[in-house]
Parts: sequence; C-alpha cells; structure tokens
Amino acid sequence: MKDAAPQTIYLKDYQPFGFEIDKVHLTFRLNPEKTRVISRIVFRPNPEAEERDFFLHGEELDLIWAKIDGAEVTPILEDGGLRCAVPERAFTWEAEVEINPEANTALEGLYMSNGMYCTQCEAEGFRKITYYPDRPDVMAPFEVRIEGDEKVKLSNGNPGASGDGFAEWHDPWPKPAYLFALVAGDLVNHPDRFETMSGRDVELNIWVRPGDEGKCAFGMEALKASMRWDEDVYGREYDLDIFNIVAVDDFNMGAMENKGLNIFNSSCVLASPETSTDGNFERVEAIIAHEYFHNWTGNRITCRDWFQLCLKEGLTVFRDAQFTSDMRSEPVKRISDVIALRARQFCEDNGPLAHPVRPESFVEINNFYTATVYEKGAEVIGMLKTLVGDEAYAKALDLYFERHDGDAATIEDWLRVFEDTTGRDLSQFKRWYEQAGTPRVKVRDTYKDGTFTLHLEQSTPPTPGQDVKDARVIPIAIGLLAPNGNEVVPTQVLEMTQANQSFVFEGLASRPVPSILRGFSAPVILERESDNAERAFLLAHDTDPFNKWEAGRALARDGLLAMIRNGAGPDDAYLDAIEAVARDDNLDPAFRALALGLPSQEDLAQSLYEAGDTPDPQAIWDALETLKQAQAQKMQDLATRLYAQYQVDEPYAPNAEQSGARALANAALGMISRVDGGALAQKQYDNADNMTQQLAALSCLLKAGKGAAAVTAFYDQWKHDRLVIDKWFSLQILQADPDDAAEVTQILTNHPDFTMKNPNRFRATLGALTMNTAGFHHVSGVGYGVLADWLIKLDPINPQTTARMCTAFETWKRYDETRQEMAARALDRILAQPELSRDTTEMVTRIRG
Ligand code: PHE
Ligand code: ZN
Repeated sequence: MKDAAPQTIYLKDYQPFGFEIDKVHLTFRLNPEKTRVISRIVFRPNPEAEERDFFLHGEELDLIWAKIDGAEVTPILEDGGLRCAVPERAFTWEAEVEINPEANTALEGLYMSNGMYCTQCEAEGFRKITYYPDRPDVMAPFEVRIEGDEKVKLSNGNPGASGDGFAEWHDPWPKPAYLFALVAGDLVNHPDRFETMSGRDVELNIWVRPGDEGKCAFGMEALKASMRWDEDVYGREYDLDIFNIVAVDDFNMGAMENKGLNIFNSSCVLASPETSTDGNFERVEAIIAHEYFHNWTGNRITCRDWFQLCLKEGLTVFRDAQFTSDMRSEPVKRISDVIALRARQFCEDNGPLAHPVRPESFVEINNFYTATVYEKGAEVIGMLKTLVGDEAYAKALDLYFERHDGDAATIEDWLRVFEDTTGRDLSQFKRWYEQAGTPRVKVRDTYKDGTFTLHLEQSTPPTPGQDVKDARVIPIAIGLLAPNGNEVVPTQVLEMTQANQSFVFEGLASRPVPSILRGFSAPVILERESDNAERAFLLAHDTDPFNKWEAGRALARDGLLAMIRNGAGPDDAYLDAIEAVARDDNLDPAFRALALGLPSQEDLAQSLYEAGDTPDPQAIWDALETLKQAQAQKMQDLATRLYAQYQVDEPYAPNAEQSGARALANAALGMISRVDGGALAQKQYDNADNMTQQLAALSCLLKAGKGAAAVTAFYDQWKHDRLVIDKWFSLQILQADPDDAAEVTQILTNHPDFTMKNPNRFRATLGALTMNTAGFHHVSGVGYGVLADWLIKLDPINPQTTARMCTAFETWKRYDETRQEMAARALDRILAQPELSRDTTEMVTRIRG
C-alpha cells in the first residue's frame, strides 16, 4: 500500500530533474527478509534545469545511513522519498537501506517468487529498492554487485568479476531506473549464441527453475528470429555481449524489457507441445519479439516521462505485429488484432476509462498500461505509415534512431522526424495522440453516369474531460468491385481531413460495390447502411482479406442483433454465406476458422448500446447459442468433412500452417459436439498428444455437459504443472453456463491450488469469471458480488492486479437499472475499504463516474 496522498500528475507540469547522474554503483547483500542495498551515485547539477531540489524517491525503505562525499548526512524523510541539502557542484551520494523482499506481495521492486529473487521496476518500482530519482529522463550507466549464496546472480549489461558468493555486472548504456533488473536463485539455463550483423558474438540464455528446461527451445528460436528480423527490417543490431531472459512464476504483467535481462511471466516464455496451445506458442513468439524490440524502441531511446508511454509501447507493439505478420500470415494477424482491439480498446475508448493515447494526467501510472496506449498507440503508427508510405516510414525511423539514440524522447520528437523526412505538417495528425474516443465514420454513396461518389462524415463522441473533438486525419483504404465481382479500382488510400468530405471515382461502367477501410486502415467505427446481399457479395469477392472477413462478421452481427431485438430466427443469408467460405478449400484454413467465429458478447452489447438499446447479457448469450446450434445442424456434413481433412499427420509443430489446420478442425469439432453430444470430442481428448487438441476437446466436452470425467483426468495428469492448471481453472469457468459461472468460480477458489498471491492463478479464476460475460453480468448480481469480494481481498496484497481487474466493471452503465444498481453497490463496497490502494481507488473512482 502506498501511503503518499493521492495526487494528480499533469503532463504540462513537466520539469527536468535538477541533477544529472554520471554513474550508479549498487551493492546488494541478499537476504529474504533483510536485504541490504548500498548505493553510490555521482550527481552533478543539470545545466538545463531551473530548480535544484534534491528529492530522491523512496518507498518502504529503511534508511540505515546516508553520506555526501563521504560525510554522514541526515536527510529529511518524507512521504514517498527524502530531501537533502547538497553542494552546488558534482558530489557523491551514498546510502544503505534495508528492504524485505519476502514481504513484497505487490510484486513491484525486489521480491521473492518461489525462493528466487527478482525485480520489477517499471514504472515506479525502483524507489522500493533504494533512494533514487525514479523518473525515466534520468539516465545513467549502472554497476551492480550482488552478494549471496544463490547459484545464479544476474543483472543488466555485461558480466564482470564473479567468485565465491558474489557476481558483478556492468551496463555501459545509460538507462533510466525502470530498466534496472536483478535476479538471483538456483536457476538453470537453456543456452545459445547469436552472431550479429556486424559479426559480434552474443551469448543468449533463457533461465528457468529446474524442471522447466524442456520448455525453452521454442522461446530461444523466437529470440534469434527476432534479433535477425530487427537487423533485416529496421537495421537494428544488439548492443551487449549477453542477452538473458528469465522466467518468473509470479508476475503482474506479461514481460519486461529490462536492459539485457528481460524478465518474463513464465506463461509468456515457457512452451512445449504437450503443455501449450498453438495460441500460447504464437503469444510467446510475439512477446519475446516485443521485449527484444524494446532494446531500441524503449531502451536506447526511452521516454521523457510516463505520459510518453505510447512512444515506446505503441511503436513496439507495431513492430511486433509486423514481425508476426512476417513470420506467419499477415491477414490472420491483422484480423486477430482487430478482434482484440474492438474487444478491449473500443470498450475502453467508449466508456468511463477513455483517455488519449498520450494521456494528460494520471494518479497512478500503473493504471495507464492500457489497450489505448498499447494497441491504439500501435494503430496510430500504422496510420502514419499508411499516410507517408513505406519508404518514408523507413527513412523516418532511421532518422529517429540516429537523432534520438540515448535520449528520453517525446511524441513531439517522434512526429518531428516524420515531418522532417516528408515535409508534411502533422499537427492535425497529432490529434490521434491527444484526443480520446473512437471516431465514427458515416459513409453514403451516390452513383450517376459513371461517377461514383463516397460521402464521408466523421465525428467522435465526448469522453470524460473532453467534450469537443476536432476532425482527424483518417486514412481510408478503399477498393471498388464491379457487379461481376472483378476489382475495378484497386486499393487506394483516401485521406480524410475534414468533418465532411466526398471522394469521386469516375469512368465506371456500372455502380460498383465499395470495399471500405481495407485492412482496417484506421481504428474507427464505420457506419454504413448495407444489406445482406452486399455483404454476402463482399464475403465472396473482396480481394482484401480483412474486408472479406469483415463482411462475414457484419452479416453475423446484423443477424444476431435481429435475433436479440425481435426474437428473429437465425439468418439464412449468414449461414449460407459462411458455409460457402468454410467449404472453400482455396482459402487459408486459419482464415476460415476466424470467419466461422462470431462477434463476442461484449461486441454485441456495445452495438446494442450504441443504437440506443439496453443490452441484456442473457438474451445475447441465448442468441449466440441458438445461432451456433443452427450452424452446427446446418453444417453437419461439412464439419465432418473438414474435421477429417484437416487432421495433422506430421509430428506436432506450432507453425502457422499446422495451427491453421488445427484451428479449422477444432472449429469443426465444436460444431460436431453440438450434434453428437461430445462423442468425437471424447475420442480426441483420449488420443490427444498436444495441448491444443486436448484443451479444444475438453472445452467441447464441458460445453456438451460431458466434462466431469475429463476434468478429473486432466487435473490428475497435470497437477504438477502450474501453467496447465491455470488453464484447468479458467476453462471450467469460461465454459460454465451463465447461471452457474459465479458458483463454479467460488467452488474453484476453495480448491487447494487456488492462491491469491499468484497473479496468473487469480486471473485464471476471477479473470475467467469476468470473461464469462453473461455469467459475470448475471441478473442476480452474484457475479459482481463474487468479483468485488475477491478484489477487496486482493487489494492489500497486490494493488496493481486488483486495479487492472476492476476494468471488468467498465461497461456497467450500458446495462439495465437492476444491474447498474448492483454494480454500483459492488463498486461502492470496494471504494469503502479503509486502506484501499491508490491504484484501485483511482480505477474505481473513474469507473464509478
Ligand atoms: N513494459 C512492459 C512491456 O510492454 C510491460 C510492463 C509494464 C511490465 C509494467 C511490467 C510492469 O513490454
Ligand atoms: Zn512493451
């Protein structure tokens, strides 16, 4: 818990720190409950700064002594840090503090996980390690000495001297404190080597707990592929002699890009065919790439302050998406990313937590590691690239690396390199960083005498604190199809800059069918009157894979909305069109599996809400079930054919091709299980030799109400493996009937393997409840109640994970009065906790509105 009084921090108040640091030396005397940290830091006055206030951040530290230039001083201890009188010239600050890693359940700073020491410093965890100017614009080279009996002792940079009970590390690259890391424990490594583009030899290691060695090979290949890709595509070479990755079981987030010592949630690096699904493999590959890419976009060029978080995160997400597209299928990656963007970011952008990609204020920065900063931040970069073109993008990036290497930079710096390379004025484009909310683009079209005109109108609804929005630059990729299905105008990018704007296409022989927002060229909501016939036409003929998929999605959505609103039956137009897609063996199986998916419950709820209706989660669930059942019935023969045809005969490999085949076969199994009562799923379960097949089968069995035996067998088979047991917890909750979801959750929280201290297990359980949409929003209020109970229990232990999970309530105002009242009660109950953390207080206050 933080004892500093909650305070809002504003971007406009930025001031440079009064001092620069030449050098940092840290000594750690490790002990689970009484670790000593001795720091020696050379400061000098910062000529750029106006103030010389020597304030060092520090939280939960026991100061033993402090010295300036060797003479003991008595600093004034304050909330959140200390102040001290210092000379007006360069000086050496030394201090010794005591910290208690064992008691650190918040998992920020230095903590213990399964007997191993590890750190998490982003964003403001370093202040729990020692007194320091814990802000990203203060950069320094670090030297670290670790004293302890642990077999393995790691920190950032290159290894220095080591011997009996100690190890030293030197990081020559100046870095902010948030990139500091230390790991010590009885770990084992999976080693490899990499030769960089200039011929330097780099030692690579993935460090894990004994027993997990067999789960490192895939991650190592992904690391080497990432290193090569960043050289090939961005010309970026690795810059140390060694690159270490460590797997940690207790971790709040996915992974962390600490310089030369990336720390990973074990779920994001460990992978083996028996224990990981195809989806897990793809995620591991993407996160390894993401953290590695941060070495240039984040570490060599870091952020001036935390308002600039999207500078490193948006760009790094964009880069990892490019990598995944190159390694696997570009359309499949794009479609999956848009599904996720709509599910998480659109929800955020259209609710009480909406904030700009670059926020202007915050209370707790941990609450701003959001889908908006990350995913919308990446979309903004994608738009920039679309607008300036690939070549100019490449030039701008070269200039960015050249001009800002070693800097703590801003979004202004980032945009300026694009302005300087292209001569474009990006002041209007900048609104994407400054204005929250998802723009709506309304499209009408007219056709006369061979001329086709698109009339576009953009508007963005108000968001908290931002009532008025200005028109943005929106790149709208478009193509035109002739009625026979031929493409008459290939993809071109329309640049919309005004609130109302028309675009004219001349010389057309007949009225074309427009394919608008190809590749999802901008993160907007497209509003266009369209009919089933046109959608089916695009689904059949569009050359743009994204819009082909989108047409099927729109058909499904409209049909479902009619089912929900007026009790209509399943839409035959949709069922026929999607069956034709599923049947088409010329299409990528992975694409077909995606096309067979349906809009999420959240997606439908948002559509209803936007149209002025009050969504009923149970009615949405019922409609989805009815449609899936109808689809299963109608497609029985095809499903049986696809299931047989897409069985993979070769040994398991988590590549795009095999994963796609399994995804389609498992989609078919889902349909078959709705008809055969789970017989085939049981067979697949019994024969599965990989987790993708085993888990898909278990999921179908649970859905069919035949899961009891498999659930027990699965537990017995995997009880020694934490990551697999996480799946066991979550799947039972995800597949529970909405009426039972909260109860199943509660029962599982009583299981001996449930623990609040491990964020993965907590998310697998309570997080799964929030993802069982109709169960969480159950009209009885029991879903809200169970979540609130557990968030209240978790907050004193781990504020960061508690605050994150509060976002489950962010849509509460969409629903009916009864549900709103119960949600409000749950939120108020959380807020009423006497010592509620700053993290959770800020989140719940914003959500409550
Ligand atoms: N910077 C990390 C990433 O995106 C995320 C992270 C943030 C991890 C804060 C831990 C704490 O790669
Ligand atoms: Zn990142």
